[in-house]
Amino acid sequence: MAKTTEIAPDIYRISIFAPWGDLQFNHFLIKDQEPVLFHTGLRGMFAEVREAVSELSDPSDLRHISFSHFESDECGALNEWLAVAPQADVVCSQVGAIVSVNDFIGREARALADGELFVTGKYRFRYCQTPHLPHGWDAGVLFEETQKTLLCSDLFHQTGDVEPLTESDVVGRSHQAMLNYQGGILADYVPYTCLTSKNLQKLAELKPKTLAIMHGSSFRGDCAGALAELDQAFKQVFGRENATK
Ligand SMILES: [Fe+2]
Ligand SMILES: [Fe+2]
Repeated sequence: MAKTTEIAPDIYRISIFAPWGDLQFNHFLIKDQEPVLFHTGLRGMFAEVREAVSELSDPSDLRHISFSHFESDECGALNEWLAVAPQADVVCSQVGAIVSVNDFIGREARALADGELFVTGKYRFRYCQTPHLPHGWDAGVLFEETQKTLLCSDLFHQTGDVEPLTESDVVGRSHQAMLNYQGGILADYVPYTCLTSKNLQKLAELKPKTLAIMHGSSFRGDCAGALAELDQAFKQVFGRENATK
């Protein structure tokens, strides 16, 4: 059963815990004149997420569906959502649109360039292109500028059925989760590339107040500091000297 929490005004975190992965999958609905869904979720979770969305707003009213990169937990249920809300546009990177999304949905996605804005009523979203962060050529994140919420996908990944929102050490938990993954098939989660620090720095400069995180607790507090610390954690776990291969 999905658990819904308003982590910032009008930003709802719809969380499903998957015991098979000891992992939460979080989907974010932003209520506004033009509602936004960030992360469609897995196709197998569609019915449950739709049910949770319908308690907040009519799913057919969705106007924007967005995600970070082309993976099942980000956008596996995209076609199911478009069947429910056919007038919604699909907001993704230009690379994502050309390489995967246009073909997957059978129509043109709304491909945004780095820094491009769209307004949904009260709220204003900036698309931030972050190639290979958290992973994938097509990766990017969305920043809601009026409340300074960063919808940051797999960044700050934590395991366990944790609380919806924390103000404590989110980086320490995430660092430990990544270290634990290094021993198994989920090793090398985030490539540490020549762009990693630059991408994280760019996000820190936005000075977010809240981090809306796909796996684990969302975070409120010193987000710029957390992004800088995350860079150090990534470097320590995934940097060349610690690479598994
Ligand atoms: Fe991912
Ligand atoms: Fe994910």
